[in-house]
Amino acid sequence: MTHRQYDSTGVASIYIEVRPSPPKDLIKSIINQLSQSVNPNPNGKWSRAVDVGCGSGQATFLLADYFDQVIGYDISEPQLQIANQRNQFNNVTFKISSGEGIPLEDNSVQLITVCEALHFFDIEKFNRKVDSLLNSGGLFVTIGYYPVPKLTQIDKPDLNLDHIGQSIDNLMQTWQEHGFPVKVFADMINTKYRCINLPFEKVCHEETFKTTSRRSADYIIDLINSLGTSEKFREKFPEKESSIMNQILNQLHDTFGTKDLSSIQLDVTFEYFIICFRK
Ligand SMILES: C[S@@+](CC[C@H](N)C(=O)[O-])C[C@H]1O[C@@H](n2cnc3c(N)ncnc32)[C@H](O)[C@@H]1O
Repeated sequence: MTHRQYDSTGVASIYIEVRPSPPKDLIKSIINQLSQSVNPNPNGKWSRAVDVGCGSGQATFLLADYFDQVIGYDISEPQLQIANQRNQFNNVTFKISSGEGIPLEDNSVQLITVCEALHFFDIEKFNRKVDSLLNSGGLFVTIGYYPVPKLTQIDKPDLNLDHIGQSIDNLMQTWQEHGFPVKVFADMINTKYRCINLPFEKVCHEETFKTTSRRSADYIIDLINSLGTSEKFREKFPEKESSIMNQILNQLHDTFGTKDLSSIQLDVTFEYFIICFRK
């Protein structure tokens, strides 16, 4: 089954604004793993990395310094359009393809990354593709973060805001109950893909990476809208969607004591993990 939640210009344009990119220390950790089994070329770089389900390039661009060639693949034209607009690297290109059908020659890739997308793939087909593309010693790395961040109000750092995250979780559960497989994907990320069979040699599992950005409180509504399903749910169940979003807005107004959410500053922290496999 193909999941096309991100195949919309509206979702793609909000996605780039609100979703995080992996922190640089996460990428360094991957490169450190790669250097233990594959030597770089004389120019200090490896030949080719592929970022699958690349979205608008959140992880793809971070690989540019380490490889002669980086290719981001995604099935969403709108995501790739934004990736191309942001691309300032000669050695990075974006192409439309499913992860399962990447049209590259066998044994031609040293690193395959999948950031926040493995749960969408036909995993058996994708595993076969990974196995055929990777050089001996090459790495396959799945990267992820739970899409509900930790929130801290700047001028009230001790205020507990966990109930806002709980509302986003509840919303994902409601989407799930209305036929959109969202919570099930979020749970796969939350359990670090334990339920997915990845028949490769696991060489690292790290959960220590964080990225924090300063946002105003209306960010929370944008984050919900970046979850892809939000738009589809609105189209199919407009009254239900509007009633839930009003409840969430009221909760935000009560929590922050104002209707002017743009006046409230938050630190928004996402926690990333990586799981690396070696061929
Ligand atoms: C949650 S986004 C992650 C984007 C980006 N990697 C990031 O870290 O933010 C998931 C992406 O996977 C893409 N996707 C879903 N199924 C796919 C498949 N079978 N092959 C390639 N990309 C796929 C979607 O179009 C979407 O852009």
